[in-house]
Amino acid sequence: MSAKIIDGKAFAAKIREQVAGHVAALKSEHQITPGLSVVLVGEDPASQVYVRSKGKQTTEVGMNSYEHKLDAATSEADLLALIDQLNADPAVHGILVQLPLPSHLNEDLVINSIAPEKDVDGFHISNVGLLGTDQKSMVPCTPLGCLMMLRDHHGSLSGLDAVVIGRSNIVGKPMVQLLLNDSCTVTVAHSRTKNLPDVVRRADIVVAAVGRAQMVPGDWIKPGATVMDVGINRIDKPEGGTRLVGDVDYESCAAVAGAITPVPGGVGPMTIACLLANTVTACCRTNGVAEPEGLTV
Ligand code: GUN
Repeated sequence: MSAKIIDGKAFAAKIREQVAGHVAALKSEHQITPGLSVVLVGEDPASQVYVRSKGKQTTEVGMNSYEHKLDAATSEADLLALIDQLNADPAVHGILVQLPLPSHLNEDLVINSIAPEKDVDGFHISNVGLLGTDQKSMVPCTPLGCLMMLRDHHGSLSGLDAVVIGRSNIVGKPMVQLLLNDSCTVTVAHSRTKNLPDVVRRADIVVAAVGRAQMVPGDWIKPGATVMDVGINRIDKPEGGTRLVGDVDYESCAAVAGAITPVPGGVGPMTIACLLANTVTACCRTNGVAEPEGLTV
């Protein structure tokens, strides 16, 4: 193994510490407590775990956490009414609607009903447009976490060749915009890309966000490249039971890469830390308080 292991767990702990400091200052200097509302529709087990974890970490940094758990059969009108109410609530600075939503609900419509300045996921069409034109926006949490770790490792990303595997609205597309805004030469690869191994071999930075267990082997990686593994996949162990793996084959990639994020303990912990960071940023912007440095781009 030659690669430096990028410790996302430790990085996320540092972000949370900074967030907690800013929350304390907002309370003592401005009598404001940032508040984050998380909306969960239905009982998807993975979503329930995420939402619980978000609530716990929100209160741990001193912010108010509001959870809204709605029945899987909730109507679109009822969900939109709740979002309207949260949009108008001055105690709520961030709103997150956990995805995926049950299939009878229109995800685009729901996301675009969130007030853009409270859209701490950065999924609202107005935030997508702002990011795409390199203007101040709310930045999606997972790509933001990747960018923070990449900047920390490389310093400047200017001129580096980056390949993003995956074109989702949540990770792939915003990751492309962030890397482009940092002057990388960016290629977006996806399921129809021809000759994917050769495309990946050109990259100084590889971001794997496809949701397919261990699909990138070490011989696709340019020696010394930096690998960000966004995947969280559960696979069966030969001896029974299951374990979490990423979208890259960790052992073989770590033998070639210059730096790599492990799974678990890499990109994953950064996502919630960035959600908390976005909530503080949103709270500062809404209240006309100078926003903290280093918590967004
Ligand atoms: N489901 C999976 N990832 C995410 C995320 O980053 N935000 C929301 N709201 N739902 C998700």
